[in-house]
Formats: sequence, C-alpha cells, structure tokens
Amino acid sequence: MATVTPSDRERTATRLLRSSAEHSYDPEIEIDWEAPFVEGKYFVPIHRSSLYGTPLWDRLTEEQRIELTKHEVASIAGLGVWFETILMQMLVRGYLNQDPTTAHAQYALTEVADECRHSVMFGKMIAWLGTPVYRPTGIDQFLGRWIGHTATGPRMFAAILIAEEILDTLQREAMADENVQPLVRTVSRIHVVEEARHVRFAREELARQIRLAGRSRLAFDRLVIARAAYLTGTRLIDPRVYESVGISPQEGIRAARANPHHQETMRWAGERIVAFLADLDLIGRGRAAKSLWEASGLLQR
Ligand SMILES: [Fe+2]
Ligand SMILES: [Fe+2]
Repeated sequence: MATVTPSDRERTATRLLRSSAEHSYDPEIEIDWEAPFVEGKYFVPIHRSSLYGTPLWDRLTEEQRIELTKHEVASIAGLGVWFETILMQMLVRGYLNQDPTTAHAQYALTEVADECRHSVMFGKMIAWLGTPVYRPTGIDQFLGRWIGHTATGPRMFAAILIAEEILDTLQREAMADENVQPLVRTVSRIHVVEEARHVRFAREELARQIRLAGRSRLAFDRLVIARAAYLTGTRLIDPRVYESVGISPQEGIRAARANPHHQETMRWAGERIVAFLADLDLIGRGRAAKSLWEASGLLQR
C-alpha cells in the first residue's frame, strides 16, 4: 500500500476541489421534474429487479413488473438519502476539528454540499415516483443514528464507501440502460459523476486512517463495518416494496433471497468494495463479523 503523506492529502483535495468546481450539477436546473413516465420503460434494469426470473415474476403482468421496479428504485433512493444524511453529519463533525485553511477540510465541506444536492435530488425523484418513502426502521435506524453521532476513523470511511460504491455500481449500469426511464438515468448519471470524487476521497482517507488506528480499535471497527455491510445488503430493497404488486413483504423477501439472479446482483454490486476492504484487512474473521458479512449477500462465493 502506498504511503499517503499530508502533502499527498492536500494534492488530492486540491484536485477534487477543482473537479467539483467544473462538474457539479443542480438537480433543480438539470432535471425536468414535470416529465411524465415513459410508457413501457422500467425504473431499474429489468434483470436487476429482485424478483426477476422467479415464479412470482412469471405471475406478474408487464405493468406490475414495471411498478415493482418503480418501488425498488424508490427503496434504493430512500436508503441513499438516509445514508447521505448520516454521511453529512459525520463529515461536518470531522470538519469541526480541522484547519479550515486546508484543501482537505475545504473538500470535506464541498462533499457535504454535493450530498445536500443529492438528497434533494433523491427526495424529488421519490416524489416524482409517487411511492412511499422507504428507509431503514427499528434497530437499523438506531444504528444509523449511532454511527452518525459517533463514528470517526476507519469505521466511518468504510461505512461511507460501502454505501457509495454499491450505489455507484448499480447506477453506472442504470444510466447506460435504454430500457430504463430517462429521468432515472439522468439522476444516476449526475450521482455517478459526483460520487467518483467522494469514492476517491474516502478510499485515500480510509487507507490513511488505518495506519493511525491501533489493533484493538481495528478489531471493533471490523465488527461495525460488517454490520454496515449487512444493513446495506439487506435494506437496499425494502421488503415493503412487494406490497405494490400484491405480494406480502415476507413472501417477496423470501423469493428475492432465494433468487439466483438477485444473489448474483448483490455479489456484483459488492465486488469492488469487498475487494478493497479485503486488501486493507477490514473484513472481520470473527464469528459475529463473518455471519454478518455472509448474511449481507455481498461476498463472493
Ligand atoms: Fe451522494
Ligand atoms: Fe457521496
């Protein structure tokens, strides 16, 4: 692993600040929120629907399949807003202790500004979709709040990266798919362009933070990271989405979990971040961490 010195850190942040100035998008201006749905187009790439290829899928009409993907993209956007709010909280907390004259601190705030626009964009998209707002509940909601209020160092940046890289993989495919609704493709494209900077920032920062962390600190962080992976993997598609096509949440989630296509989607979405975390030795091997990672569905078989 290359050593990142403070000047490397400043150099990266300076480059990211310049790129932010050149490539930032205002969802209010870039997107026509009055645009109607395009008939016959899906809201996620069809083969990424969690029920694609199952007997339940075979029973759905074309309209119902499209409707299900509408709720699936709303679920992903709802989780996105939730994660971004926690991320903004963590970045602002970190900023409070930094020197405001450094590019590094200024970039952290610039990223908050990006995430502000993203959450507005996802919120507007959910309103456009006309679906319920799907977001984590119960223990997941509690843990998200806890991470937002307390996380620093490796567990903070690893949790950020898990959410950002999985979303990024899904959106890169969606933005290029002609069978996906144009508005969803535009939202995906804007997010992909801006998130590339965030991923770069978090990857470098994570590698740096690991070198500063002690062994016992890292042991605990591996467990938190495993729980974040479990949450992302299991809450990406909210079980309540199936109600939109008359399937109970229990039946829908059971079918999705047993669906080889969906299993493959989750592994594919997790591939890049899992490899990166494994390189940094952040995939816990203890019993609890291992079972959380396995249940997340993100690991390669
Ligand atoms: Fe974002
Ligand atoms: Fe981001």
